[in-house]
Amino acid sequence: MKQKKNAPSPAPVNRPRKLYVTRTIEFNAAHRLFNPEFSEEKNREIYGKCTNAHGHGHNYLLEITLGGIMDPETGFLFDLKELKAILEDEVMARFDHRHLNHDVAELKGLVPTTEVLAIVIWDILEEQFQNIDNREISLQAVKIHETGKNSVSYLGE
Ligand code: NI
Repeated sequence: MKQKKNAPSPAPVNRPRKLYVTRTIEFNAAHRLFNPEFSEEKNREIYGKCTNAHGHGHNYLLEITLGGIMDPETGFLFDLKELKAILEDEVMARFDHRHLNHDVAELKGLVPTTEVLAIVIWDILEEQFQNIDNREISLQAVKIHETGKNSVSYLGE
């Protein structure tokens, strides 16, 4: 097709631009909000029914966002197959169908709130996304939806 006169030239997609990709995964886990430093009464006051002795479960939705410069040859910021595999190994294997108070070494001694979980998952994943092909790939955000109404974001600060 003949190009119209004065039509804008196509944007140079290959010049370095910062992009973000997000993958969402779901895992199921149980937890109990309980701080051994507090009395039973104080735990009850702070955590309510979330401190019930045998815990309760959540279907956590986890959003992992990476940022960086697109690979001009593939058109990808990050291969999502590879991201999927990393999240299987580092997140699903550790957290899915576990009791967060008892089964996860990285949470030992911590009260497994969603905030704590976001920080711990950040620390587990951060080093997986560094210095890739000099494209400034890095972990940008860990967002966890504990319920349909409550979520926590950690941006690494
Ligand atoms: Ni809970």
